Amino acid sequence: MKTNMENGGLKMVGRVHQSPSSILNPQSSPRVPSRWRKEVEGVLITDAQLARRVKSLAREIEKDFRGRELVVVSLLNGTVIFLADLIRQLNLPLRLDFIGVSSYGSGTESGELVFTKELRLDVRGRDVLLVDDILDTGKTLGRVLPKLRALQPRRLKTCVLLDKPSRRVEKKVRADYVGFEIPDVFVVGYGLDFAERYRNLPFVGVLRPQIYKTFSTADGH
Ligand code: IMP
Ligand code: MG
Repeated sequence: MKTNMENGGLKMVGRVHQSPSSILNPQSSPRVPSRWRKEVEGVLITDAQLARRVKSLAREIEKDFRGRELVVVSLLNGTVIFLADLIRQLNLPLRLDFIGVSSYGSGTESGELVFTKELRLDVRGRDVLLVDDILDTGKTLGRVLPKLRALQPRRLKTCVLLDKPSRRVEKKVRADYVGFEIPDVFVVGYGLDFAERYRNLPFVGVLRPQIYKTFSTADGH
């Protein structure tokens, strides 16, 4: 918790879970670029804050895995942007592989998990870093972690960009490295999507609720 406060540079991380309106106070929150303003209510984490925190996360990971070769296992699709930035900051030899996992939920709720791509690299006896975009209910990591553990890696650590602790259902699931703790708001950008959109926002923003409230599942989903 303390580390997040120190390294993240975000005032609302920690145990205080404010409402979106107070997080996105216009005085403290940067303006949403005009082309996104109709859909995105506010900027929660700026591109500069993301870059800074990704660097410090990489330093923490390097320290723990010094002298080892890593297998980075990343969950598709939400991690792609975070992962690309993180591994380029990691001064460690590493190999990269992906697990595809899709949740067929409606709107912003996660539903049934389906594996769309299996791991190809052999992780037995290896040091594994599992990377995900956001730890929400914990159902995804709750499914993926036992699957990886069964492959008998030497060490298995978990890194997530975002953590919403107040939403946790799987109480035992936690991440070893957390970029930012955030309150219970639906966020998009920097790889995170709503209905596969908004992944290309260079910041993490809060989606306007009317976007997901009026979303039709017939819309190519
Ligand atoms: P969990 O299984 O509930 O922990 O959810 C993990 C997955 O749900 C993430 O990998 C995301 O794909 C998705 N998710 C949860 N919260 C958000 C959010 O605020 N924005 C975008 N995707 C989210
Ligand atoms: Mg997603």
